[in-house]
Amino acid sequence: MSASLNPTALARLLGPWNTGASPAYRELADVVRLLILDGRIPLDVALPSERALAETLGMSRTTVTAAYAGLREQGFLSGGQGSRGRTGIPHRTIPVSVPGIALPDGILDLAYASLPATGEVVHRAFADALADLPALLPGFGYDAVGIPALREAIAERYTAAGVPTTAEQILVTSGAQHALNIVLRTLAGRQQKVLVDHPTYPNALDAIRASGSRILPVPLPPAGPGAENAGWDLDTMVATLQQQRPAMAYLVPDFHNPTGRLMSDLQRRRLVRAAESSGTVLVVDETLRALNLDGGSTSPLAAFSPAVVSIGSLSKSHWAGLRTGWIRADGDMLSRFIATRTTMDLGGPVVEQLAAARLVGSFEEPLGARLSTLRENRAALLELLAEHLPDWQPEQPRGGLTAWCRLPTPSSTALTVIAPDFGIRLAAGPRFGAGGAFEQYLRVPFTLPPEQLETAVRALSAAQARLDASPQLRRTLKEPQIAAIA
Ligand SMILES: Cc1ncc(COP(=O)(O)O)c(C=O)c1O
Repeated sequence: MSASLNPTALARLLGPWNTGASPAYRELADVVRLLILDGRIPLDVALPSERALAETLGMSRTTVTAAYAGLREQGFLSGGQGSRGRTGIPHRTIPVSVPGIALPDGILDLAYASLPATGEVVHRAFADALADLPALLPGFGYDAVGIPALREAIAERYTAAGVPTTAEQILVTSGAQHALNIVLRTLAGRQQKVLVDHPTYPNALDAIRASGSRILPVPLPPAGPGAENAGWDLDTMVATLQQQRPAMAYLVPDFHNPTGRLMSDLQRRRLVRAAESSGTVLVVDETLRALNLDGGSTSPLAAFSPAVVSIGSLSKSHWAGLRTGWIRADGDMLSRFIATRTTMDLGGPVVEQLAAARLVGSFEEPLGARLSTLRENRAALLELLAEHLPDWQPEQPRGGLTAWCRLPTPSSTALTVIAPDFGIRLAAGPRFGAGGAFEQYLRVPFTLPPEQLETAVRALSAAQARLDASPQLRRTLKEPQIAAIA
């Protein structure tokens, strides 16, 4: 049977959508559109019937009918009136004349920060994996910890980076997000507190919420006047650890998503000491660690304490389609993660793991080209932003895939809502925070080649101009609530 969204679930996703700033049907349509673009309402699901949604929201049926009609007209709902519309994204949105740019056929996706495969290398790894496969076919094929060749290759990389590691300390997972879910289910939940960098990676926030844990956001200090990396606010982080004693902390110290910051070794050492004394398990997401664009070296956080739990992935260094990640932890802790893992699935696919073992074994091979492409893209993006959106303040990312931009006004959600009219898809700033924060920020990836980045930035600039010309378009906005931190 095809998927559908029930009215209560939709009402929960909508949150407090009705600000009264403009007609309710328009506000409702705008927020649903944003949820679809953001990926929080999946594509091709049936929305609740008009009657059921009107009842749940306590609105008149005419309001819901008009909102759905608007969404149909814009291509975000398919199916005729009377039938339950299915969600979609318009293949090509309403053409808007933007001087100097030809709108691309599809929409440029600035909501994803991911690169295509390191083609040739990944393909070759799969060809080699097929050659390796016969040796494993006599086994059962169930391996809840990962195939030995891959665990060993990952362990060797940690050892080479200064963190002596054996294969027994590695659990192979289907990506970093899977790894985080295993860790959360083991260490958090039941209203326990999980400290996070703020802003942070949206899917991690969603996973923490879904685990039933409470998010404890510790703000990253704003970028300095020259947009230089301001690092982490260790004083606040340490005070929060001491006062709140969270069960776990989820941090992205290596080319943090979305800011691209890198935590210094000094800060790493202090953080580890503070977590030890508060009894907090430090979980670090190193998914972006290989994307080091400015050189300079830091030690993996696990180099400072055996109690640190590290999460890694091949998604950003090689290809997200591999769906291969891992957890590195000490023996007892790893056993707990393995026990949790088998409640979720019984192991990863063998051919992917064989290919991943090849890729991890010669990890650096495709990286040089990837890093130089990213450096060029980063320079192009920062130049384009300076030229076309001079009052935006992008932070200079030291690595990773994205630039975190401070906007002149709190208009991130409004920009995201109108972006498809300009041929682009965005992820609104508040997706990166708790409690509606970051309305004045937008993450812009530099994963597209410079020509497409130019189209994207011109489109951003045109969208910004439209907002400036009609400030009432910001009607879906609420004032950003800066989450209070103890
Ligand atoms: C910090 C961070 N963690 C995890 C992920 C997801 O990784 P995976 O594809 O391995 O699940 C991403 C992807 O953007 C990321 O940026």
